[in-house]
Amino acid sequence: MSPLFQAADLTAEHVPDADVELFQPLLEHCEDFFLRCYGRPANPDEAKVMLTERPPTAGGGHLTALRDSGGKWVGILESVFDFPAPAEWYLGLMLLAPEVRGHGRGEAVIRAYEAWLRGQGARLLRLGVAEPNPDALRFWTRMGFREELWVGPIKQGVLEYRVLRMSKALV
Ligand SMILES: CC(C)(COP(=O)(O)OP(=O)(O)OC[C@H]1O[C@@H](n2cnc3c(N)ncnc32)[C@H](O)[C@@H]1OP(=O)(O)O)[C@@H](O)C(=O)NCCC(=O)NCCS
Repeated sequence: MSPLFQAADLTAEHVPDADVELFQPLLEHCEDFFLRCYGRPANPDEAKVMLTERPPTAGGGHLTALRDSGGKWVGILESVFDFPAPAEWYLGLMLLAPEVRGHGRGEAVIRAYEAWLRGQGARLLRLGVAEPNPDALRFWTRMGFREELWVGPIKQGVLEYRVLRMSKALV
């Protein structure tokens, strides 16, 4: 796995789709997020299923692991690119382990990720914020993302709620 960037004390590395199951312990560890956004903890096949939920019309997907200084996997960035248009990326999931949140690492990661995306020729980054996750909405607004559209209600796990599509121009 090759380093993509450094953000605060975290190192970002590309992870091949074939190794997606390496993220399963992290997803299970982030039970608070799954309870909030899916109404249940991570399923035993949560990591694997993530890949099957990518939009089929996307150009492809990209998995990034965030490791702490001890090498522990403490975060994930899961994206698809060229969706819905060329050079547009969609961040399906950004998740940090509870013990590393709230110290500015999320901000450092997203700034570095944006710079890396620009280097890939990306022109826009889009994402969806779950209505029951107002902390995330505050975070993304602070990161410069703007409201595009409320979508839904859609079913997510055992919950049903609206999702706010947000975007940020990278050029
Ligand atoms: C959202 C997230 C990536 C931000 O990373 P971070 O390192 O905690 O962020 P920073 O320290 O740079 O900024 C803190 C901000 O993140 C947001 N935040 C979201 N969830 C948080 C949490 N569980 N703990 C602390 N901050 C959280 C808040 O807006 C907070 O700002 P505030 O002081 O106004 O409350 C991270 O908190 C996380 O993984 N949360 C759970 C998963 C999630 O909600 N992902 C987004 C899905 S759209």
